[in-house]
Amino acid sequence: MRLVLLGPPGAGKGTQAQALAALWGIPQIASGDLLRAVVREDSELGREAASYMDRGQLVPDELVLKLIAERLRKKDARDGFILDGFPRNVMQAEALAAGLERVGLKLDKVVAVIVPDEEIVKRISGRRTCRNCAAMYHVIFEPPAKTGVCDKCGGALYQRDDDAEETVRERIKVYEAATRPLLDHYGRLGLLAQIDGVGSTDEVEKRILAAVDGPAASGQAGAGVGRARL
Ligand code: AP5
Repeated sequence: MRLVLLGPPGAGKGTQAQALAALWGIPQIASGDLLRAVVREDSELGREAASYMDRGQLVPDELVLKLIAERLRKKDARDGFILDGFPRNVMQAEALAAGLERVGLKLDKVVAVIVPDEEIVKRISGRRTCRNCAAMYHVIFEPPAKTGVCDKCGGALYQRDDDAEETVRERIKVYEAATRPLLDHYGRLGLLAQIDGVGSTDEVEKRILAAVDGPAASGQAGAGVGRARL
């Protein structure tokens, strides 16, 4: 399965991508996680990326495409992947399609998770993430057993720097301007399914599974996404 999860910030892309990755045994590839890892390195590149992320703006395509291409080259992505947060604009979508096409592959499905703005702000303001294993919690909707501690690995939970309400509202605007046009783009290609992202995480997962109709492989499984040059 080569799946893209689209949706506004806080729609639940990361939550669903983690669940589906575990279910299907394929990696979740989250551009935001890749960028946050670069930021943690405290390099010049990391500081540049942080300057966009802290304002809720998209990081320049060139850096994102390089990170995604490196990640797709890894062995574990050969037989499928779930892209979460990438592509974010039509240029990135075209680069992804071209990279996959070069190795005889294509996306199977693009699922857009639709959630209203006020729900987004509620979800993001309560989000907590494990510093160690990246498991996701919500202080009200999905609380850990012990406040501030990950149920899965005991790691410390933290709140993301770009989750302040003002930055979230900017991220929603950026989604509307840059990313929403991808719905039309993938609609025209016949790849898009839109699902309602409101409801329990299990309900949303069921809707995604119904939309993709199971992890049927297409393209040429094992043909080596690894060689993709985005
Ligand atoms: P990124 O990390 O991709 O953030 P995002 O797209 O804004 O999405 P989020 O991670 O905030 O939300 P999500 O949809 O994954 O929701 P989650 O599952 O966490 O990007 C961050 C920044 O990096 C961008 O602003 C940009 O600067 C840069 N960037 C990233 N990719 C880029 C790209 N391709 N190009 C350029 N720049 C890029 O859920 C949120 C909360 O809700 C959690 O607490 C969760 O527990 C809870 N929740 C989930 N599902 C439910 C539910 N059904 N009911 C109740 N609560 C729920």
